[in-house]
Amino acid sequence: MSFKCGSCGYSSVKWAGFCLRCSSSDALAPAGSGAAAVNLSEAGDSASMQRIRTISEVDRVLGGGLVAGSATVIGGEPGVGKSTLMLQLAGAVEGPVVIISAEETASQVSDRAKRLGIDAGAITLVSESSVDAALEAAIAVDPVLLVVDSLQTVSCAGVEASAGAVSQVRESASRLVRAARHWGVPLILVSHVTKAGHLAGPKTVEHLVDVVLSLEGDPRLGLRFLRPLKNRFGRTEESGVLE
Ligand SMILES: Nc1ncnc2c1ncn2[C@@H]1O[C@H](COP(=O)(O)OP(=O)(O)OP(=O)(O)O)[C@@H](O)[C@H]1O
Ligand SMILES: [Mg+2]
Repeated sequence: MSFKCGSCGYSSVKWAGFCLRCSSSDALAPAGSGAAAVNLSEAGDSASMQRIRTISEVDRVLGGGLVAGSATVIGGEPGVGKSTLMLQLAGAVEGPVVIISAEETASQVSDRAKRLGIDAGAITLVSESSVDAALEAAIAVDPVLLVVDSLQTVSCAGVEASAGAVSQVRESASRLVRAARHWGVPLILVSHVTKAGHLAGPKTVEHLVDVVLSLEGDPRLGLRFLRPLKNRFGRTEESGVLE
């Protein structure tokens, strides 16, 4: 079952009282079955998919860049450099990027960008923990890349659990993945990996996303390793080394 906006055609698997895309105040109406049947000989292959280029070492690990409309989870322990890498990717892609962060303020992110020598002119930070509100703000920017830092700090209204709990992480991820797929924008979800394990880690959403990456390395060493654990669009043999 899906729902469609009568004004702009936006479709959503969740009913809403207004359109998340054009803000039309008319409620989304039930759409037809929408089941897609495609003969495989007419289907495009992964080589023909639109890829968004980032930094060369990451693109190599991904098998040629981020696929439009795909969802990637990047997991790593606290302080390993996830937010730094996201900013580097955001600075490298061509076009506007939205970073949804409930974790860091705009001035923190802008300071880091300056330190890294990244031109942040095309980066918009959405400091918001509500998934729906953040998506609404993001769509207004019409980004070529959407980053959520982190999955454990955003939440969905209507889910009776605090941010970071399994049910909250699953619902947030699934709403974000659907939105990205619908807009055709690549989505990167940053996920904390904690040894204690009371936060839901990247394993919780592995089945919901196309690509799972693990960022590893000793924070005291200059090197980080990016390992693909799952890749629907490429191989998982190639690891990347980041300085
Ligand atoms: N590739 C790198 N080489 C050297 N230092 C790095 C690298 N990436 C990040 N750092 C440093 O490591 C520290 C932590 O980085 P960052 O905040 O990006 O990590 P994080 O994984 O997002 O952490 P958190 O789990 O707290 O969100 C920062 O001081 C940053 O300058
Ligand atoms: Mg961080």
